Amino acid sequence: MTEILQNISLKPYNTFGLEAKAKYFVVFKSVEELKEILSKEKFKNEKKLFLGGGSNILLMRDFDGLVLKNEIYGIENIFEDDSKVILKSGAGEVWHSFVLKSIDLGLSGLENLSLIPGTVGAAPMQNIGAYGVEIKDVFVSLEALNLETLEIKHFNKVDCNFGYRESYFKHAGKGKYVILNVSFELSKIAEFNVSYGAIKETLEQMGVKDLSTKAISEAVISIRKSKLPDPAKIGNSGSFFKNPEIPKTQYDAVIEAFPNMPHYVIDADTVKVPAGWLIEQAGWKGKRIGEIGVHTKQALVLVNYGGGKGQDIANLAYEIQASVLEKFGIKITPEVNFID
Ligand code: EPU
Repeated sequence: MTEILQNISLKPYNTFGLEAKAKYFVVFKSVEELKEILSKEKFKNEKKLFLGGGSNILLMRDFDGLVLKNEIYGIENIFEDDSKVILKSGAGEVWHSFVLKSIDLGLSGLENLSLIPGTVGAAPMQNIGAYGVEIKDVFVSLEALNLETLEIKHFNKVDCNFGYRESYFKHAGKGKYVILNVSFELSKIAEFNVSYGAIKETLEQMGVKDLSTKAISEAVISIRKSKLPDPAKIGNSGSFFKNPEIPKTQYDAVIEAFPNMPHYVIDADTVKVPAGWLIEQAGWKGKRIGEIGVHTKQALVLVNYGGGKGQDIANLAYEIQASVLEKFGIKITPEVNFID
């Protein structure tokens, strides 16, 4: 029987370290437990918030509803041949532990995604990515519970409609499903992706001669530690904004005025520009306002130094958005989910 707690602080359950209370809070460790909770008449009309690692949310205030923490564990090898293995992981597994386990098993595919906060079940929601790899590159399928019918639905890669920090679950499927497990196809034959410049540089600094998944993972960990604040020490949610993709015509005008702007060509009509650069140029990097601010080493990351409030962080985000729009004519949008 699952225990329903009341009036619980969510501070330990969000990486921003924001103080907010949940009216009801429950942990589920299996789909059966989840179904049992969702079937209760008492919760039918309560609003619901599903939590993994709480690493991509901004709690705006106390949550007047039921918070459900996903702790479905277990990692299984469900297919293997000479060249690959499919690993199926419970949604509640900690993402970084899953990555390390895959490396220990001698598999490659996830090493560039080392040290990303959060859980396996949250990873497909926004197609997490870093250092040249996104989970859609190794994703096979997932199972999710439909919250209306309480039936389990199987989603393949096409069903998930992955895009840059996007998926079906952030759009048409928003609020309709809870991810229960995710399967990834990983390679037994090492296939390395060191296209991202800083990885190569870090591997050189580390004196690595023979490339391995372990070495790449260590390089990624070292880069992340040097740029991104550790949520255990300074509250944050990683990149607060997405990198905007702008039409080529707009890009041509901006680059004329700002010739040093870094950029990545997406296709003939679209160019992506780093929001961190735009925010830094607009003068926000390292700015501190009381208990909150913009990280000193990466302007894309908003931080809570201690007693910050969700609303204050949202207001700072709006100010940053407005000033980037004014300076560059470019609209940046949050990657983090605002929870009311
Ligand atoms: N930059 C600045 N100033 C800053 C930050 C960045 O000028 O304060 C410039 C950098 O010099 C570089 C460019 O912007 O030229 C890109 O910076 P970086 O390589 O650090 O990556 P990012 O675009 O800021 C994205 C992801 C990160 C991911 C890194 C590495 C998004 C929203 N963020 O950041 O993901 O780790 O690339 O692949 O796409 C996350 O989503 O939470 C996250 C941390």
